[in-house]
Amino acid sequence: MRNSFPLFQSHLDLAHSYWSKIVQIGDLVIDATCGNGHDTLKLCQLALSNDKGKVYAIDIQKQAIESATHYLANHLSFALQTRVEFQERCHSTFPDVIGPASVKLIVYNLGYLPGGNKDQTTQRHTSLQSLHHAQKLLQPGGMISITCYPGHVEGAREQEVILSYASRLSPQEWSCCHHTWLNRSLAPSLLLIQKTINAYAHLKSDKL
Ligand SMILES: C[S@@+](CC[C@H](N)C(=O)[O-])C[C@H]1O[C@@H](n2cnc3c(N)ncnc32)[C@H](O)[C@@H]1O
Repeated sequence: MRNSFPLFQSHLDLAHSYWSKIVQIGDLVIDATCGNGHDTLKLCQLALSNDKGKVYAIDIQKQAIESATHYLANHLSFALQTRVEFQERCHSTFPDVIGPASVKLIVYNLGYLPGGNKDQTTQRHTSLQSLHHAQKLLQPGGMISITCYPGHVEGAREQEVILSYASRLSPQEWSCCHHTWLNRSLAPSLLLIQKTINAYAHLKSDKL
C-alpha cells in the first residue's frame, strides 16, 4: 500500500529532495545554521567525493559546532570530513575566501538548536543580512533553501520579514517559491530562492 504514505513526511524531506535536484559531486555548498549537523551530513553526501567538493558549516554556537563535528565523524569517512570547514561565527557575513557566484546551495534551518538554549535563536535582522550576502555568493542556477519555524514568537516574525523580502525580489533574476502545510497549524515552512540564468547576464554586465 505505497500510496497510503505521504510523499513528504516532513519539511526536511521536502528540502532534501530539492537539494538533490541541484547539488552534484564537486559543488561548493554552505550550511549557514549547522546545528547538530544533520543537514550538513546530507549536503556532504550530495557534494563531496574524496577529491572534489567543499562544504562550509557555520553556526554561532560552539556547542553546535562540536555536536556537528562529532556527528559527521560518526557518519563520514576521514577523507570526506577533511572537505568540510566548520566556522563558529554569525552568518551575517561569510568567509572572505568564498568568491561571488561560486556557491551552488546555501541552506538555513532557522530557529534554535534542538536540545539547546532556546534564546540562541536566529534573529530576523541578522538572517536578512545573511540572505543579502548569500544572494551574491550564488552561482546562476544556485539556490538558497530556508526552513522557517513560525511556531515560536521570533520564528513567526522572522518568517514574515523573510517572505516579505523574497516576494519583492525581481522575477527576472530570482525564482522564489514557498511551501507550507495547509492542514498542519504552525508547521515549519520551506522557502526556496533560486538565482536564474538571466541574473548571470545581469551580474556579468555589472562586472561582478
Ligand atoms: C534549527 S537549528 C539548525 C539545525 C541543523 N541544521 C541540524 O541539522 O541539526 C538552528 C541553528 O542556528 C544557529 N544560529 C542561531 N543564530 C545564528 C547566527 N546568527 N548565525 C549562525 N548560526 C546561528 C543556532 O545556534 C542553531 O544551532
